[in-house]
Amino acid sequence: LCDMPVFENSRAKSNGMWFKLHDTLDYECYDGYESSYGNATGSIVCGEDGWSHLPTCYNSSEKCGLPPPISNGDTTTFPQKVYLPWSRVEYQCQSYYELQGSKYVTCSNGEWTEPPRCI
Ligand SMILES: *[C@@H]1O[C@H](CO)[C@@H](O)[C@H](O)[C@H]1NC(C)=O
Ligand SMILES: *[C@@H]1O[C@H](CO)[C@@H](O)[C@H](O)[C@H]1NC(C)=O
Repeated sequence: LCDMPVFENSRAKSNGMWFKLHDTLDYECYDGYESSYGNATGSIVCGEDGWSHLPTCYNSSEKCGLPPPISNGDTTTFPQKVYLPWSRVEYQCQSYYELQGSKYVTCSNGEWTEPPRCI
């Protein structure tokens, strides 16, 4: 059994209170918000260990695009087109370069914090 999950910037499209295994619950994001996939609606599935994921929606203008490129260094993970608010990305420098500053950038209000420099 799953009970009503916590909705973040979203609301349920059904008014049930309890859900059986494999039941789905559809939700929609408030205006100006979207799911992590960029959709205005989504559904979650009741599984053995609870809901498949949480019905969380994000302010679409607080998402970030590609992390800023830097000279003589790169991100340690393959870049995505879209990052959720408060995502963090790590950088590393090429051999023989030294990293200055924080090696992480954070997505805040739709913008990345200052990336490190490789010198
Ligand atoms: C997002 O919405 C589109 C169009 O409604 C749908 O085809 C797609 O499956 C949805 N993606 C996810 C991850 O829910
Ligand atoms: C979304 O974020 C932007 C930028 O921070 C802000 O101006 C706007 O009010 C937010 N929208 C909502 C619906 O909270």
